[in-house]
Amino acid sequence: MTLSSLARTVPALVVLAAAFAVFTAADSSRAVAVEAAQEAAAEVPENPIEATEESVRAGLRVYGRFCRSCHGVRGDGRGQNPSPGTRPANLIDDEWVHGDSDGAIYNVIRQGVPPNYDMDAWEGRITDEEIWHVVNFLRELAARSQ
Ligand code: HEC
Repeated sequence: MTLSSLARTVPALVVLAAAFAVFTAADSSRAVAVEAAQEAAAEVPENPIEATEESVRAGLRVYGRFCRSCHGVRGDGRGQNPSPGTRPANLIDDEWVHGDSDGAIYNVIRQGVPPNYDMDAWEGRITDEEIWHVVNFLRELAARSQ
């Protein structure tokens, strides 16, 4: 290798190395993004309880006791006793502000809606199983009100 061809090769190698560094950085940040997306997806559980008549009925009982006062008999968000200044969600329209999968609805009921928690977290106050029954009940209620 002559000196002049070395002089031409070295900058090319530097450029190549820099390109490789950028490429691997992009690659690892993509890996991080994919991991985060997978984690988020993993946090939205599958509904483990089949929407049998029994489950829907159990959901109705929970709803009547704990949810109806705000969300209304029909689930349209017009309950008799909402907290002043709050707007309980309509649960029978197609609009799900916090996600429309069973798992997303389950999460909202379980964890509530931050930061104000006008929609309370029900974790620990009703069982996880009861929350799934309510989800099944809400699906039925929405289907019947079409
Ligand atoms: C004290 C009143 C109150 C009670 C009781 C209550 N909620 Fe809510 N709920 C709200 C309010 C207010 C919102 C709207 C929160 C927001 O999006 O800011 C809401 C939102 C929701 C949502 C999200 C709807 C969407 O569009 O994503 C679901 C699901 C829900 N409630 C289900 C329930 C269930 C099931 C119960 C009973 C276990 C219940 N709520 C009890 C007030 C209440």
